[in-house]
Amino acid sequence: FFAIQHEVFMEHLYEKLQVIESDRHPLSNMERLKAITGPLLSWYDDHARSLPWRDQPDPYRVWVSEIMLQQTRVEAVKPYFNRFMEVFPDVKALAEADEERLLKMWEGLGYYNRAKNLQKSAKVIVESYDGRLPGSYEELLKLPGIGSYTAGAIASIAFGVPVPAVDGNVLRVISRVLASEEDILKASVKKKTEDDLRKIMPHHRVSAFNQGLIEIGAIVCVPNGPPRCHLCPLASLCLTRRFKSWDSIPVKSPKKPRRIEKRTILLLETDKHQIAIEKRPDSGLLASLYQFPNLEGSFDEAQLWRLLTSRGAEIKSIESAGTARHIFSHVEWQMNGYRIFLKGDIPAPYLSADVSQLRTKYPLPNAFGAYIKLLSGES
Ligand code: ADE
Repeated sequence: FFAIQHEVFMEHLYEKLQVIESDRHPLSNMERLKAITGPLLSWYDDHARSLPWRDQPDPYRVWVSEIMLQQTRVEAVKPYFNRFMEVFPDVKALAEADEERLLKMWEGLGYYNRAKNLQKSAKVIVESYDGRLPGSYEELLKLPGIGSYTAGAIASIAFGVPVPAVDGNVLRVISRVLASEEDILKASVKKKTEDDLRKIMPHHRVSAFNQGLIEIGAIVCVPNGPPRCHLCPLASLCLTRRFKSWDSIPVKSPKKPRRIEKRTILLLETDKHQIAIEKRPDSGLLASLYQFPNLEGSFDEAQLWRLLTSRGAEIKSIESAGTARHIFSHVEWQMNGYRIFLKGDIPAPYLSADVSQLRTKYPLPNAFGAYIKLLSGES
């Protein structure tokens, strides 16, 4: 009851507050942005979620968390982040990590280049900065895998440097506050937002200002479905709320549709429960990870039997392992798998692994998750 009363009260308050902006003298965009600072900071003080990297914002933790949080939800990141900090507690440990172990730690988070760039940067930081992340926005920007958003986040959250950190969350919040119909996927719109925020951000609270905007974007001004304006400290200033146009703002140009790729997955198994795997090339999609041998295109059992026999395999039997689908950013794999029971051992050039090694040793992308489960007897 009290919570509802509070919300109703807040809504009335927001309505009243709008009186300060008269119809004859609407705020300019910069005035409107300047006006968000006060309510944003008090809201953040009261509502910021307690997160492992927030509660202890040293540069290394902020860096790793920001990289993990790219394209990945907070709840999904938390367990990865905590494990990562245990295994690689500092920049030096990360720089010296075995790449395969690092990729195994990243398994399931996707976008594996993020992990490889983290390690490349860690090596640079050890060699050129004595193992400590540089505190300047410009120096951070030079490191592999660090763009304007991440450099801004690390500089402001860990070092208190007054630079903005504009990601998709922040672009959504700002374009909604201003009811801007500019395409937020355009680099020029991101640049303009960064320039504008840099001018109005309060220098004594840069971390709270940036994280407050990110937080509102994550839990109030949400991307899918109606924003939760009754909880928003910026509601009285928000032009999108005033015009009730949240379903058309932000504007995002349509992405080109994903390419669909049919793949036939070969689960080559021996009597001794060994399974064939191979390492993917060290560039391109899922670079340096392991996979089950697979073919582009759709093959049926008879075709596979002929093809593999012609390559020298001695097959006992083939049975279906079912279909699976995996969505990457630019491509979708539509997979059809087969369990292929072999007479002898796993033939070269494949590597031979048992199910427990698939789970603990080799980094295998999530795309093959359904087949790993099947081989483990879980489905
Ligand atoms: N997403 C990206 N950066 C974040 C942060 N610092 N806190 C919460 N969510 C985030």
